[in-house]
Amino acid sequence: MKSLINILDLSVEEIDELIAKANDIIANPDKYREACRYKKLATLFYEPSTRTRLSFEAAMLELGGSVLGFSEANSSSAAKGESVADTARTVSCYADIIAMRHPKEGAPLVAARSASIPVINAGDGGHNHPTQTLTDLLTIYREKGRFNNLTLGFCGDLKFGRTVHSLISAMSRYQGIKFVLISPHELKLPSYVKKDAIKEKGIPYVQTTDLEEVMPDLDILYMTRVQRERFFNEEDYLRLKDSYILDMPKLANAKADLSIMHPLPRVNEISTAVDDDPRACYFRQALNGKYIRMALILKLLEEAGR
Ligand code: NCD
Repeated sequence: MKSLINILDLSVEEIDELIAKANDIIANPDKYREACRYKKLATLFYEPSTRTRLSFEAAMLELGGSVLGFSEANSSSAAKGESVADTARTVSCYADIIAMRHPKEGAPLVAARSASIPVINAGDGGHNHPTQTLTDLLTIYREKGRFNNLTLGFCGDLKFGRTVHSLISAMSRYQGIKFVLISPHELKLPSYVKKDAIKEKGIPYVQTTDLEEVMPDLDILYMTRVQRERFFNEEDYLRLKDSYILDMPKLANAKADLSIMHPLPRVNEISTAVDDDPRACYFRQALNGKYIRMALILKLLEEAGR
């Protein structure tokens, strides 16, 4: 595997290796301080980002490498009409590995086809977000100690939420998984994700609009933001944006060892009163994002012979 475009580009065994590597980095950070000396990561971000871009950059810096790139399309030649393919080919002359976020589904795949260095999809439109999924998997592993026999609830914008699509695909490869899909009708999981990752694999699932009703069943509750930037009109967004607000009373019937996850940024969907509950993992999750990206950069550079 030269690039990471879809989480299914990685086998279950490769994911286990990345998790083991990230855990080793957490335990022995000094061992890795020079691992990417003289190597460069280019971050090509055509869409806003805080955690993904900065955790990629922090990851490369902590490996002893350097970073270059842009954080908005307007400051790159995209503003002059350059294609993603030409940009990727050009950046291959200046860096060893690319992390790209783009509002168009499939753009990182197009980039990977013309780049001569590995390309990592850092989020493509409402489609996929494989490195958030690696972050989520490391979090599940560290919080729960397993990937099998888990009931995962996904709540909020399951239609446009790319982190949801990638995590459901990834979790569908483990045993004893149940999915609980909680959303307004307008924001249901796309049928292609449901077909490929749930129905064809015979995985049990429940679809509901009522979060409190299913709360007692959940081992993991994955909250998401309503993806304003993907809506066609503002009225629909305003109507749907506060469909779910997780607060302490709603957790009354939750399991004592529930893990509450969120890829962040949060808008309104989790009350800040929940942050101090030990079951809230979302800031630990953000930290895990740096370590798993360190593991991923090491793997892809090694495979590319760089
Ligand atoms: C997510 C994204 O960009 O899809 N954020 C992230 O990378 N942590 C989720 C979101 O923006 O809601």
